[in-house]
Amino acid sequence: MLPTDELELKKFFVPEFILGRGALELAGRYARNFSLRKVLLVTDAGVKQAGWADRVCTSLNEADISYEIFDRVSPNPRAGEVMAGAEAYHAAECQGIVAVGGGSPIDCAKGIGIVTSNRRHILAFEGVDRVQMPAPPLVCVPTTAGSSADVSQFAIITDEDERRKIAIISKTLVPDISLLDPLPLTSMDATLTVDTGMDALCHAVEAYVSNASSPITDLHALEAIRLIAAALPEAARAPDDLQARYLTMLGSLYAGLAFSNASLGAVHAMAHSLGGLLDLAHGRCNAVLLEHVAGYNYAAAPDRFDAITRLLGQQPEELSGNERQAAITRAVAGFRRSLGIDASLADLGVEPGDLPALAERALSDPCMATNPRRPNQKDIEEIYASAF
Ligand SMILES: [Fe+2]
Repeated sequence: MLPTDELELKKFFVPEFILGRGALELAGRYARNFSLRKVLLVTDAGVKQAGWADRVCTSLNEADISYEIFDRVSPNPRAGEVMAGAEAYHAAECQGIVAVGGGSPIDCAKGIGIVTSNRRHILAFEGVDRVQMPAPPLVCVPTTAGSSADVSQFAIITDEDERRKIAIISKTLVPDISLLDPLPLTSMDATLTVDTGMDALCHAVEAYVSNASSPITDLHALEAIRLIAAALPEAARAPDDLQARYLTMLGSLYAGLAFSNASLGAVHAMAHSLGGLLDLAHGRCNAVLLEHVAGYNYAAAPDRFDAITRLLGQQPEELSGNERQAAITRAVAGFRRSLGIDASLADLGVEPGDLPALAERALSDPCMATNPRRPNQKDIEEIYASAF
């Protein structure tokens, strides 16, 4: 017999994706399948320099599709950049978008898409299901294994005037196709590899303990944790190991399918707050916070956290209840340190005086709604303080 709550209605939204070596060469063919003649190619300076945008341009040329390049995208994409991209889209009379890069160019491209079709400012879409008109076709070529922006119904944009990140959650943000090729991952340095990999791990953990999880998201979340735990250290150690890169990409994909449908939790709510106020790297913020949030959340989902502890290589069944709570914190911290991430929030430039404002913003982030425990302002300040 299934537990009764597993009989509740659940939905699972999955975009089309192609996974494997050579996927990025298919960008032109898929743009053509959408009957596009001209596209806005959204990327950033680093991805362009690594040569991946050029590879995609070659594919577009071969399919006889013209393009306008928009690469003015920051690591935490800003509302002004989205609006500038939408202007470039209209000025060049584009009919669709191809995004090449990590989460930042892809989130920016998603924002450009809904701004062009709805003719409204990007900040007007903050929250859940606030987008009315579908976006033009969007083809994604991710170059990191972490954000899963290429399969998710999320976009995170920084309101630079208010120094806060807004979350836009809508089915209209799910790309039309993601071309998941492990090759572009080989140009990531070790720091970007572990930061983006820890972001993916946080997606999987938060989706697994989310109060909107389901048997379908559980399946993907658990396999994501297993794959990331096994492959991320090797991908960081040997950047050109295509097999390890492929496994981290698969792990990130599974994590993306899980969190896109089960949403996230306090780690992301708190990381968004940090990223917005202090413009810090998203994956690094998550990496520093995860063990502390897991310890706080443990009591709300002990069996689920024990399963995560096991996947990270420790044996919780040999421990008492209190020890198991400490074990998840220890297991996550051990994994983080094994990747060479030793930073505290103080190292990232956070001041103790920032905590009240950070906690207030985190509490109002939409990701907090699915955290398994309901924290108050003091709880969040204490979790931040424990990461100092
Ligand atoms: Fe994330």
